[in-house]
Amino acid sequence: MNVQVFEDLQRIQREREADRLRMEELGVTEETIALLVSTFYDRIRQSPSLGPIFNGAISDWPKHLATMNTFWSSLILRSNTYTGKPIQAHMKLDGLTKEHYHHWLILFDLTLREVFPEPAAREPFMTRARAIAERLESVTVPAHE
Ligand code: HEM
Repeated sequence: MNVQVFEDLQRIQREREADRLRMEELGVTEETIALLVSTFYDRIRQSPSLGPIFNGAISDWPKHLATMNTFWSSLILRSNTYTGKPIQAHMKLDGLTKEHYHHWLILFDLTLREVFPEPAAREPFMTRARAIAERLESVTVPAHE
């Protein structure tokens, strides 16, 4: 490995660590992410519009929650633990509408407000969630809807 590559890797590592520390100071840790995820999906499962879609597609809930913990910790704490394929996972689902995505985002925002009192802690979650929801909607909901 040449010196330049080594220095770049060290810099990326330092930036990743700084991001993680900044979020931890705002109360975002592996533990509070797990609380966010479990509270959110409890709410999702009870939702009349989203519950049937999730309950119909997911048989192993502990596994789904574990996947979602790695997903959010990779995005927010830069843990690099998520290895799935979100686009493909949603392409398998039938009958999604833009209202489903809208509702998903409302429930997510509501749960974030419960778990993280600090607005700065919620902001990176919501920014990512909105962007990903938009992307998923564009590939799963027919254009005329
Ligand atoms: C209408 C809204 C949504 C519905 C109905 C939905 C439904 C689902 C379902 C049923 C699964 C499990 C698929 C399987 O295991 O076969 C899943 C997985 C997943 N969802 Fe969603 N989802 C929605 C929105 C979102 C959004 C907005 C995000 C990200 C911000 C997201 C992130 C993920 C991820 C990361 C997985 C795991 C994929 C993998 O297996 O690696 N979902 N979703």
